[in-house]
Amino acid sequence: MRLAFDRFGMGPVVVLLHGFPLDRLLWDEQSRALSDHFQVVTPDLRGHGHSPSPAGTYLMEELAADVLETLDDLGPREPFVLGGLSMGGYVALALAEMAPERLKGLLLVNTRSAADSPETARKREETAASVEATGSIDAVVDAMIPRLFSPNTVSTRPELISEWSARMRQTPASGVVGALRGMAARPDRSSVLSTLNVPVLVIAGADDQIVPVAEAEAMSRLPRLAELVVLPEAGHLAPLEQPAATTRAIRQFLERMD
Ligand code: MLT
Repeated sequence: MRLAFDRFGMGPVVVLLHGFPLDRLLWDEQSRALSDHFQVVTPDLRGHGHSPSPAGTYLMEELAADVLETLDDLGPREPFVLGGLSMGGYVALALAEMAPERLKGLLLVNTRSAADSPETARKREETAASVEATGSIDAVVDAMIPRLFSPNTVSTRPELISEWSARMRQTPASGVVGALRGMAARPDRSSVLSTLNVPVLVIAGADDQIVPVAEAEAMSRLPRLAELVVLPEAGHLAPLEQPAATTRAIRQFLERMD
């Protein structure tokens, strides 16, 4: 499936994937800043933003295939750096497994390589069934919002939280259901990281309630070439909560690679 996307700048290609249930604007600040030296492509994943939202389960492999199909329309197939936040990271790892030769580097932000626990997978199915029954995603957004942001963001940037709460509510119910079932079905991809031969940057939020720093730290020990940056006063959405520090960490990673 061809996805809606933004493209900024010229140069080596960097693709940034948003999380659930967000959209490509998550990476707006980083994309604009990095466009001075890089060509940054930010797709809306299937079921999110302006991309199509078919019914059905969105396996992470299918979301990764959508990203490749969209990129292949853009021009020559040069290896690119792929980054993903949370669900975007699950998709990035699926793509790394399917097509490791396409990658020049991997950027994993506020995400994990492990699968869902049976309990988490069961809860996702319950939530998906309730969204299907009601047609509303409000309960999903209401449950997520208190877990997404650091205490610092909550006290200093309430407008950011309102803005993103409103954006999340625009996600179609079919997109939320498809992504929930797809995330629940994903396998543990830690072994993909252990065998990957490209540089990996893991960015964690010191206050992330969804992916604790200890888990990000353990994940950063899996690849042969990896580094970890822990951002203070960032929760689960580091690119929004600490935009300049996130850009700095990504830029340093990209410049070291070139
Ligand atoms: C996300 O931000 O993409 C979600 O928190 C991922 C998840 O629910 O596992």
